[in-house]
Amino acid sequence: MTTQSTRIPPVTVPALHQMKADGRRISMLTCYDATFAFAMDHAGVDTVLVGDSLGMVVQGCDSTLPVTVDHIVYHAAAVARGLSRALLVADLPFLSYATPGRALDASRRLMGEGGAAMVKLEGAGPMLETIATLAQRDVPVCAHLGLTPQSVMKLGGFRVQGREAVAAQRLRADALAVQEAGADLLVLECVPRMLAAEITASLRIPTIGIGAGAQCDGQVLVMHDLLGLRGRHRTPRFVKDFLAESDSVEDAFAAYVAAVRDGSFPAQAHGFD
Ligand code: KIV
Repeated sequence: MTTQSTRIPPVTVPALHQMKADGRRISMLTCYDATFAFAMDHAGVDTVLVGDSLGMVVQGCDSTLPVTVDHIVYHAAAVARGLSRALLVADLPFLSYATPGRALDASRRLMGEGGAAMVKLEGAGPMLETIATLAQRDVPVCAHLGLTPQSVMKLGGFRVQGREAVAAQRLRADALAVQEAGADLLVLECVPRMLAAEITASLRIPTIGIGAGAQCDGQVLVMHDLLGLRGRHRTPRFVKDFLAESDSVEDAFAAYVAAVRDGSFPAQAHGFD
């Protein structure tokens, strides 16, 4: 007797590219433990990010800078145990990818010990060689442009990027450059919605927006923000509390997935001009 598997196929890197080609929006949420990962997976979240935001929302720090590779590996391994469908992305922490060699070592740990299917790193310019090195060694890379929280000391705070013409032009060029270096996905954080739409249309790889308008190929939120949890930090304007209109945490995750898919999240009020 043969048994038919009811297992839903896992989300893969080519599947994400196909979603962009088909115009199907991609949902991503940050996650830091197995129980929430299990609930997100069941709610249909496509990609789960063990972000270095864990420094702020889990560890209570003022920035993401104190997060280490050991921290991300620990949380990624826990999250991986909760997932069966969603693709697991893990952040390379501050300066853990300062050279291509260090990036390879840290990625080996995130993927080998943490179970990640993709690593995320911030920036273009000097990072292009690192992205190319990782991509040539078959490490799927998610680039991250716009507001890059690991640069907070240089930026002087968490604020919208790309509003001035010169900065907008640099962002357009950086987005193309990370794609050509081999990135498979691009997070755009706190970027004016028109600029994010333009960049999204110019790329083959999917863009995932956070505070970047509804025209990105997908959306990401920090889990605590989606659940309306207020910590020591100011709640950004691009956040929506999905738990407020839901009966359970899993329903809130499902409502987020549905709203990303049908384009009702983010609304105009969640974006920047
Ligand atoms: O660390 C993180 O949670 C992130 C998302 C905000 C994209 O990088």
